[in-house]
Amino acid sequence: MKNNELNTIREALKISPDNVPLLKLFAKLCVEQWALGEGKEVFERILTFHPNDLEAQLGVAQVLYQMGKVSEASVRIESILQNHPESAEALLYSAKVKISEGDFKSANDHYHKSIALNNSLKDGAVEKELKEAGLSAIPAETKPDTPVLNTSAGWIAEESNELLTGEKDGSLLEAIDNIERPKINFSDVGGLENIKEEIRLKIIYPLQSPDIYKAYGKKSGGGVLLYGPPGCGKTLVSRATAGEIKASFISIGLHQILDMYVGNSEKNLHEIFELARKNAPSVLFIDEIDALAANRTDLRHSASRTLINQFLAEMDGDIASNEGVLILGATNAPWYIDAAFRRPGRFDRIIFVPTPDEEARLQIIQVLSKGKPVEKLEIRELAKKTKDFSGADLKALFDLATEASLQKAMQENRVIPITTNDLLKQAKRLIPSSKAWFESAKNYALYSNQSGLYDPILSFLGIKK
Ligand SMILES: Nc1ncnc2c1ncn2[C@@H]1O[C@H](COP(=O)(O)OP(=O)(O)OP(=O)(O)O)[C@@H](O)[C@H]1O
Ligand SMILES: [Mg+2]
Repeated sequence: MKNNELNTIREALKISPDNVPLLKLFAKLCVEQWALGEGKEVFERILTFHPNDLEAQLGVAQVLYQMGKVSEASVRIESILQNHPESAEALLYSAKVKISEGDFKSANDHYHKSIALNNSLKDGAVEKELKEAGLSAIPAETKPDTPVLNTSAGWIAEESNELLTGEKDGSLLEAIDNIERPKINFSDVGGLENIKEEIRLKIIYPLQSPDIYKAYGKKSGGGVLLYGPPGCGKTLVSRATAGEIKASFISIGLHQILDMYVGNSEKNLHEIFELARKNAPSVLFIDEIDALAANRTDLRHSASRTLINQFLAEMDGDIASNEGVLILGATNAPWYIDAAFRRPGRFDRIIFVPTPDEEARLQIIQVLSKGKPVEKLEIRELAKKTKDFSGADLKALFDLATEASLQKAMQENRVIPITTNDLLKQAKRLIPSSKAWFESAKNYALYSNQSGLYDPILSFLGIKK
């Protein structure tokens, strides 16, 4: 847990305030979480003991660069390079700074020196800039045989063509269910009206009236992050969105990307985005987004940091345009998610998907009873008596009642309809599954409510507002 991790290190630093490795770890974590000011302070503190520490020097330069103080960063980098002309990281930062300053020729020069020294520093964003400036992003001699952390727009496209046509064994695309054209639409989702409307605004209207949207300088696409307790319709509404606009639906759980081949995660991620782009209009549903964000603090695996950067670049449309691609992310643990994910153009809409209220339960029950042998259900009564039930809990009610009545039907050899009483009987036995979730969510909302992000949880619990 990110905040805890930072706090643990803070505590440890109180005991040994001059522990340099600890200070470095802390500073890097700060920078990763965009606590730039604090990160910079800590790097500078290290420099007071060890003025020649390369990592700390680079850290300060990086923070300055990330703060947008390009000329200050440039001065720092130049002095680092004077003492360490072979530092691949310094050369990479120098390239970034030069690009910001518009000096593409030097940027190109430094970038190539950097990746020749350390190929894992390949940087998609830098390569894209260089390419746009008319400079070859990757000279043939530095092209590795097996690309690992490659984010170059140019030849990733070649790679993924191969994969998209399914020529490669063990491709991620074979592991996922590929492209689906869902038959369900919004009418199959009970309640969640605000979410449906948000999605309409973000993709459905822009697709229906592209000219109007263009006139206002708006594009379709972008990201919506859905969070909340399990079983409340995040996956369902995402699938229904695709059905609603007859778009393709591409669904992936992050563990599928992370678990595949060590080091191939970036490529997998890129393939998924490419698949969505090629099939636009499309809904790209990424479940368990938190797995990606939580990895961010795992400094031992630097690849996962690359993966996050890759993810952000894919979302930003840096690598290729995401026009017509709606990215829907889902998580049960929004508190693991880095603020960098919430910047405009990324998941700029974050929506709480709560357990359904009585009206929503009523609608869900209606949806669930469609096509089932039910006898004049007292829907209102059922909705009233299923407080705190998630959509999935309600579905479980129907499943259990169906099973019981099927068993009877088999014995008596006739169809025996499901009654309100059957369902109420099951409801008494079921404990709402969202309870545990709300217990931990409440703590986050009360004690680490990042700029009011979790206010919807508090107001749902009747604690505030
Ligand atoms: N609003 C709803 N309307 C109709 N059915 C629902 C609704 N919400 C949930 N359900 C039922 O519960 C099942 C589980 O919902 P879903 O998988 O969308 O939940 P989720 O929010 O994605 O959960 P998780 O966080 O565990 O992934 C659905 O397949 C559906 O049968
Ligand atoms: Mg789900």
